[in-house]
Amino acid sequence: MTAPKKLFIKTYGCQMNVYDSERMAEAMGAEGYVATEVVEEADLVLLNTCHIREKAAEKVYSDLGRLKPLKAARPGLMIGVAGCVAQAEGAEILRRMPIVDLVVGSQSYHRLPAMARAAAAGEKPVDTEFPPEDKFDHLPDRPKAALRPTAFLTVQEGCDKFCAFCVVPYTRGAEVSRPAARILAEARGLVAKGVREITLLGQNVNAYHGADGDGERSLAGLVRDLARIDGLARIRYTTSHPNDMSDDLIAAHGEVDKLMPYLHLPVQSGSDRILKAMNRRHTAEGYLRLIERIRAARPDIMLSGDFIVGFPGETEADFAATMDLVRAVGYGMAYSFRYSPRPGTPAAGRAPVPDEVADARLQTLQALITDQQRAAQAAMVGREVGVLFEKPGRMPGQMVGKSDYLHAVHVTTDATPGTIARVRITASAPNSLAGEICAG
Ligand code: SAH
Ligand code: SF4
Ligand code: F3S
Repeated sequence: MTAPKKLFIKTYGCQMNVYDSERMAEAMGAEGYVATEVVEEADLVLLNTCHIREKAAEKVYSDLGRLKPLKAARPGLMIGVAGCVAQAEGAEILRRMPIVDLVVGSQSYHRLPAMARAAAAGEKPVDTEFPPEDKFDHLPDRPKAALRPTAFLTVQEGCDKFCAFCVVPYTRGAEVSRPAARILAEARGLVAKGVREITLLGQNVNAYHGADGDGERSLAGLVRDLARIDGLARIRYTTSHPNDMSDDLIAAHGEVDKLMPYLHLPVQSGSDRILKAMNRRHTAEGYLRLIERIRAARPDIMLSGDFIVGFPGETEADFAATMDLVRAVGYGMAYSFRYSPRPGTPAAGRAPVPDEVADARLQTLQALITDQQRAAQAAMVGREVGVLFEKPGRMPGQMVGKSDYLHAVHVTTDATPGTIARVRITASAPNSLAGEICAG
């Protein structure tokens, strides 16, 4: 018997890429490949890439450059580029990096096994189509070994919003929702294998409108259906757009116990002028009113967001409006990025804000966000929260898990991964909390 072939996958970018990497590993598992974390022993190296900002996209090429000596030393080694850079650049990647053997776009993963066979036979297959068949229908069932107590589950993919800065509508294509029955079956399968928490994924997850018999299911309906699965303890979803936050979904936050009190709701800017230039189709005031309604339904909800600073045309007054909005909301955490012009997007040709101005604003915003994050964590001390344990911590006898509010929590306990316990928070460190199991 020959030794199984080994697959090394490096994942860049968002949670959907993490999910996709798992699905690709499963598809290649059916071909006899086993996963390895040691790149030097791999027979196939897959880079599952991200195109969202220039730095992310360029990282792929520097990583490919570092693979050159390995490829020279191991002539049978195949190198594949998957994900959003693959989708955006296609065959151009082969021209720039001849060591690459195959390029597979984000909608074609079910074709990866056949492409790997073609590559092994000396071809250089490239597939960046948006094929008419649904890749999810052609991917194998999800085996047990790869699973942890928490799992991602893609329910919606692509985006029709076309924010002026963003490549996602081009790399992931038009918005498509998976049928509700498929999602529920996948969720039941995950729970049967020990998963306790599912995070529903979509670039515009709250725009979900999947087929359900003769009708359609909204995200709120899907959440309510999932909540009826015995053994599934926690439901989350990400990422949402403010304009798709329906009354029903807001109500679900107050009514469905399994829906966790955490919501990632990017707003990008606090200036209406910039929001308009970004083609966001909402105002700062509209966003703040929405937050009020969400908090009325679920007062303890933890909010997170995304911000872009230095978008073309951003003035000091626009940036001040962003700072005001962040102060008004009070985020549990938030991500902020310097604007990065992306090829093919409407904003790419507009006059940029000088680098040093954008950098200074980013630092100012990040300092405010860090303060809010610390304050939100400090406010947890003394409180009792649910914690789902995921893995052993760094100290002996310690487990790490996530609180209902998505904080990492360290606890000394002999509880096993997958256990949910009531924990009293005793201390707050910069990026995590410490706690002890509540008596009784
Ligand atoms: N709705 C998507 C957003 C993906 S991009 C999702 O599923 O997560 C994540 C964040 O990256 C965006 O919210 C935005 O803040 C940031 N971003 C997108 N394009 C960018 C660009 N050109 N430059 C800087 N940041 C960008
Ligand atoms: Fe990009 Fe905007 Fe769509 Fe989010 S909503 S994926 S930022 S275009
Ligand atoms: Fe990046 Fe594609 Fe996700 S561009 S953020 S990997 S959808």
